[in-house]
Formats: sequence, C-alpha cells, structure tokens
Amino acid sequence: MLIREFGWADYDAVVSVWRTAGSDPLPRAELEAKLERDPELFLVASDGTIAGVVLGTYDGRRGFILRLAVDPARRREGIATRLLAELERRLKALGCPRINLFVLPDNAAGLAFWRYHGYLPAPDVVCTKPL
Ligand SMILES: CC(C)(COP(=O)(O)OP(=O)(O)OC[C@H]1O[C@@H](n2cnc3c(N)ncnc32)[C@H](O)[C@@H]1OP(=O)(O)O)[C@@H](O)C(=O)NCCC(=O)NCCS
Repeated sequence: MLIREFGWADYDAVVSVWRTAGSDPLPRAELEAKLERDPELFLVASDGTIAGVVLGTYDGRRGFILRLAVDPARRREGIATRLLAELERRLKALGCPRINLFVLPDNAAGLAFWRYHGYLPAPDVVCTKPL
C-alpha cells in the first residue's frame, strides 16, 4: 500500500471512497482552490485502487484534517493510521505545532480512531457562517 500525494487521475476513485464512507465529496472547483495552497497535504492510499484518502491543510499556525475515509471493505488494516502518520510527518516538516479536526459526536468509529491516535475532544463549540 503506497501513501502518496493526490493526482487528478485519482479524483473519481476518491469521490467513490468518500461516498461509500458517508462523507460529502469535495467538488472539483473547491479542490482546485485548496490544491493551490498545499497540495502535498492531500494524500491517498493506493495499491492500484484507491483504498483511503485524507485532506490536510495548514494555515501557518494550525493544521487541520478533513475528509479522512477508508473503503469499508479495507477497514481495520491500518490504512487510516498510515495516511495519518504521513500527513502528521508532512505537517511537522512544515513547522505545524498542533492539529485540529471535527468529528460528529455520533461517529463512534471516528472518535475511537482519533482517540487511539491521541486526538482528544475539546470543549469548544463550532460556530460557522457562509460568506
Ligand atoms: C475512521 C476510519 C477512517 C478508520 O479507518 P481504518 O483504516 O479502519 O483505521 P485503522 O485500521 O488505521 O485503525 C486504527 C485504530 O483505530 C481504532 N479504530 C478504528 N476503527 C474503529 C472502529 N470501527 N471501532 C473502534 N475502534 C476503531 C482502533 O483502535 C484501530 O486499531 P485496531 O484495528 O488495531 O484495533 C474509517 O472507519 C472510516 O472511513 N470511517 C468513515 C469516515 C469517518 O468517520 N472518518 C473520520 C471522521 S473525521
């Protein structure tokens, strides 16, 4: 299993992994804008087919992790762990001191995964506004 940077040839397979994992796919235009900033933080796990994906961002102060998903047929093989390890390595290399992320409170698997890797819930409430 190779962990590598996303390429546009992966897009349809990545969308399919997001869909089967219950995660909203990022539209091409949104992804294009994101990839102008830190393309090296958008990673896929591939052994010929795409088994997992994770999208990281870094704003110069905090790292953020979004849209981590693994094909349901390939779970508990350590694929998300390998994606996360590579993303953390890359964020650290950029000088990022802390990573934040969102998990829905009813996502037991997600919460267990993040806790296993040392990501603990914070009491902050998320506030958001469309522009
Ligand atoms: C969460 C998710 C990415 C985990 O992917 P994965 O490749 O199966 O995870 P790993 O195999 O690397 O798991 C590492 C450890 O996390 C924990 N973990 C992972 N899935 C778990 C589950 N369903 N229940 C309990 N613990 C779990 C375990 O401790 C596991 O180690 P173990 O298998 O040796 O017990 C995957 O379940 C998924 O795609 N879920 C849907 C999308 C999602 O919820 N994304 C994260 C929300 S931000």
